Amino acid sequence: MPLQIIKSPSKMQALAESLRRKGKIIGLVPTMGAIHEGHLRLVDIAVRKSDFVIASIFVNPTQFGPREDFSKYPRAFKSDCQKLEKAGVNVIFHPSVGDIYPENYSTFVDVGEMTTILEGTRRPGHFRGVATVCAKLFNITKPHIAVFGQKDGQQLAVLKRMVRDLNFDLKIIKGPIVRTSTGVAVSSRHSYLSAEGLEKAKVIYGSLKLAEKLIRNGIRNSRNIEAHMRNLIKSVPGAKIDYISFNRWDDLQPVRKLSGRVMISLVVIIKNVRLLDNIIINAK
Ligand code: PAF
Repeated sequence: MPLQIIKSPSKMQALAESLRRKGKIIGLVPTMGAIHEGHLRLVDIAVRKSDFVIASIFVNPTQFGPREDFSKYPRAFKSDCQKLEKAGVNVIFHPSVGDIYPENYSTFVDVGEMTTILEGTRRPGHFRGVATVCAKLFNITKPHIAVFGQKDGQQLAVLKRMVRDLNFDLKIIKGPIVRTSTGVAVSSRHSYLSAEGLEKAKVIYGSLKLAEKLIRNGIRNSRNIEAHMRNLIKSVPGAKIDYISFNRWDDLQPVRKLSGRVMISLVVIIKNVRLLDNIIINAK
């Protein structure tokens, strides 16, 4: 079946409804375009777990702050479509800003405390925009499953909470972080980094691997682990730590003494590019 590109929310809804009536399992991969290996891995998961795969491409203005890169955000619609079609996507939902936020639009989803920590402290309102657009995408594409990458770990946890709290009839699936051969987490913001910047960025995953090793060796005090991570990152000139954080996976409560599933996340700024990464470990 050739790839279809649908711009109108009502057409998308009508197609999703007819697929559901035929008993098809719909998988959704929401994206803002600039498709890379990380997205394609999410599409693979959707292809395996559903009969019909929808990928959305929509650079969502409500999740960008006033000083963020909405207009500069990489856009490559034609090559995105080629990559997604090759990966097995059946429909690309590509609405305009006016389709998603018509005049006098006034309804937003606020997932609460989880959105005010970590990235929420640096990007106020970001998760309100993410939750709102995802709620709309879920209502428009009517998926049975929606696949999101672990790379944006807080986003994933926030969306899982929204789906539970608002009884959306779908399952959120976590896709793995795709890394370059040197361990750098692949992201759309990579295109902003020079080869030198990418080389420096290796230290981010290096510090997460170090944390993992310390935990394997029995260290459970997050302050102690953080100090080792900071020392390693500081050894790379020009790598500036924004934050390092230890949070319980699922509800994102900060943890001092590690136990159970914990997300260790950090942001390092290299040449003005904010690079976000995490691992989720089980500290038994
Ligand atoms: O992760 C992203 O690309 C975006 O935050 C998402 C989930 C597509 C919502 O705009």
